[in-house]
Amino acid sequence: MTFKKNILCIGAGYVGGPTMAMIAHKCPDYKVTVVDINPTRIAEWNSDDLPIYEPGLDTIVTSTRGKNLFFSTEIERGIKEAEIIFVSVNTPVKTFGAGAGMAADLQYWERTARQILECSESSKIIVEKSTFPVRTAFAMERILSLTKNDIHFDVISNPEFLAEGTAIKDLENPDRVLIGSRETPSGLQARDELIEIYANWVPKDRIITSNIWSSELSKLVANAFLAQRISSINSFTAFCEKSEADITEVARAIGMDSRLGNKFLNPSIGWGGSCFKKDILNLVYLCRHYGLDEVATYWEAVVNINEYQKERFVLTMLSAMFNTLAGKKICLFGFAFKANTGDTRESPAIFIAKKLIDEKAELVITDPEALNNAKIDLNDINGTISYIEDPYEASDGCDAIAVLTEWEMYKGLDFKKIFQSMIKPAFIFDGRNILKHKQLFDIGFNVFPIGKPSLTHF
Ligand code: UDX
Ligand code: UDX
Repeated sequence: MTFKKNILCIGAGYVGGPTMAMIAHKCPDYKVTVVDINPTRIAEWNSDDLPIYEPGLDTIVTSTRGKNLFFSTEIERGIKEAEIIFVSVNTPVKTFGAGAGMAADLQYWERTARQILECSESSKIIVEKSTFPVRTAFAMERILSLTKNDIHFDVISNPEFLAEGTAIKDLENPDRVLIGSRETPSGLQARDELIEIYANWVPKDRIITSNIWSSELSKLVANAFLAQRISSINSFTAFCEKSEADITEVARAIGMDSRLGNKFLNPSIGWGGSCFKKDILNLVYLCRHYGLDEVATYWEAVVNINEYQKERFVLTMLSAMFNTLAGKKICLFGFAFKANTGDTRESPAIFIAKKLIDEKAELVITDPEALNNAKIDLNDINGTISYIEDPYEASDGCDAIAVLTEWEMYKGLDFKKIFQSMIKPAFIFDGRNILKHKQLFDIGFNVFPIGKPSLTHF
């Protein structure tokens, strides 16, 4: 079959994989190839056991793979054949040199740009899919303009707003698709080519365009606002615990104000995931770079409150359990940074697990999807940790349960049975407020929710 266009995506991660699967699914006349430097990852994408867990992803991949969706390690060939290249490589926080701990590490991105330059034999559209610092497109254009022949590259910014766990739903029915371009004739033409792809399934009024810098910045601002909202509600959990107010009641009351809305008001042990911290720190770094210290300090506080929230959770456990956790067995319900994913990047569970081990507690970790990643995250930790998929078996003989991920399955467990198998007094720390606290208390548990009064038998 001959295809209308060849699309390439460099980077087969949580963003590149699902996004390209959706494009292939919705645009059968485009050939979509996803390449990655990691051959194991590509082999997994080509197997029945995909490298990431994402509800609905299997169905889309199996229906398109081998037809118009291909996963490969042949990066050079992919570049040569493509008319449109999405760049979806990771942009972690820099761990060395200037800006260490804050700025984005752009080495993968630059290497990718140089590889595109070296291998290209025809003009192409380059789409920034990864979240990059503002004005990365400028640097990318500079590198790609080093071409020796008359090949031309148009760089477009098209940030991805999908959230893990709901990636397929988000991709299928996005609130908006944002495309930022140069306002030159070829920039606008490149923008229109991208619009044509998305218009296969996204209503035209949800495909919005902007200048390229606004597009890059919008992604950072969106993540900063989302994280700020959670840090805001989490900051008030501390206040509620002191004042006997109830955060669920407060969230409901403020969320009914149509100006505020009721989403992203779930109190938690803190937000995690690969994006929020990295993107806000990057924003803070950029603010300082531009001499905007007050703006930098404002956004940095969003991260600081998140660190405080994680710390506070452990201190609550410590103080509730008579100020000593040494030798006590604590079961962590969930390790993923949120439900419906096996991803543990920046999961608050990592911090909490390490702190509990510092207190000499013994840990049993249960999670339906994230145990393999949890083992990797805690690999270098000196302490007693076991990993058990069945929550009943995991909590057997424990002193306490700490709910760290809001998995739906935890709500339906038989807590009477769990209580009977635990050491007494038995504690539950509900770091996501998903359980029925009064019922647990009536069973005999000492219950510590987030941002509401604790229910104790002593
Ligand atoms: C990443 C970034 O974290 C995020 O900011 C950005 O918006 C999109 O890319 P994610 O897809 O979750 O998000 O990252 P990851 O799962 O690590 O995938 C990146 C992939 O790129 C990896 O499979 C890695 O092997 C690959 N890669 C990296 C390359 O193919 N070439 C490189 O030079 C570097
Ligand atoms: C986020 C953005 O939502 C998405 O648009 C962007 O593309 C990538 O970053 P993601 O990190 O995958 O997506 O998940 P998200 O649903 O935003 O959750 C992030 C963290 O916030 C999780 O740890 C989650 O548990 C936490 N959270 C979310 C809360 O603590 N309370 C809430 O009300 C919502």
